[in-house]
Amino acid sequence: MAPQIHVIHENSEWSAPLFAQLEARGLPYQDWFIHERTLDLQEVPPQGVFYNRMSASSHTRGHRYAPELTAGILTWLEANGRTVWNGTRALQLELSKIDQAMTFGRYGIPTPRTIAAVGKAQILEAAQKMSGPFITKHNRAGKGLGVRLFYSVEGLVQHLESPAFEPSVDGITLIQQYIKAPSPFITRMEFIGQRFHYAVRVDTSEGFELCPADACNIGDLACPATPEVGTKNKFELIPDFDHPLIPSVQRLLEEQRIFVAGVEFIVDAEGRPYVYDLNTNTNYNSGAETRAGGQKTGMGRLAEALGGALAGLR
Ligand SMILES: Nc1ncnc2c1ncn2[C@@H]1O[C@H](COP(=O)(O)OP(=O)(O)O)[C@@H](O)[C@H]1O
Ligand SMILES: [Mg+2]
Repeated sequence: MAPQIHVIHENSEWSAPLFAQLEARGLPYQDWFIHERTLDLQEVPPQGVFYNRMSASSHTRGHRYAPELTAGILTWLEANGRTVWNGTRALQLELSKIDQAMTFGRYGIPTPRTIAAVGKAQILEAAQKMSGPFITKHNRAGKGLGVRLFYSVEGLVQHLESPAFEPSVDGITLIQQYIKAPSPFITRMEFIGQRFHYAVRVDTSEGFELCPADACNIGDLACPATPEVGTKNKFELIPDFDHPLIPSVQRLLEEQRIFVAGVEFIVDAEGRPYVYDLNTNTNYNSGAETRAGGQKTGMGRLAEALGGALAGLR
């Protein structure tokens, strides 16, 4: 069998735009949808380039153990010397915001103050150490799981006792300093083949400003795969974006062997950027890409880059 591009994922809806771009270029690919399957450790993997886009939120789609199985598959591929884009190291980062924060720190990339906690009493203990408003989030998240804003420890006490409290799938809740942006948006930088591709500005006003409650659920508002509803365009490509964070993030991606990533940051009132999320499974907002002229589609660039990696094998 000739070498192919093997796409490891657990969300067919999110992966369809990539398959369409691979097909448009006549690139041969295999769809490795991961839910329940066997992995024969004696077998030799097929030839080709493997691209892993396993998601940390797979359990919300009923694929509770897809990341664990994917970790096994990636280990097997790497042990067999296969070319893997976003291999075992990328998956570790995808599944742990603690790991993300510590890794950002190693590259001098500023992150919000964060305390990890297991246990409700410990979550409160962590919150008491915060000097201002804080956010709760899941260590293993994606799609804004468990993201809530609190202005007081009392608000959190109520929340922890209410049925709305949902623990992280890995049991670890993060308490994180809330970064208040002077205008409500975050920036997401997309990297493909370890190179900066473009940045999008994501409107978060409906996440914070419209919510009168102490506890405010952002939901998956800042998830690029979320269809835009109503007339408001939440995602906009930023023309000619450049930022001093780009070289540090590129160095991180190179050294950690991550090929594809979306990295999010917020800028506070003093103009300081805080990076708080590294998505190794990234989606691109096609509405924003079309409004920007449709020249720089993320999935198009990704298909091209994977095609280049495949050609390099031959
Ligand atoms: N420390 C923070 N300060 C302010 N807003 C935040 C903070 N952390 C997260 N948010 C908001 O919540 C959204 C989801 O949080 P994020 O850490 O990206 O989780 P996920 O991995 O689930 O996307 C962000 O895009 C941002 O709008
Ligand atoms: Mg995010």
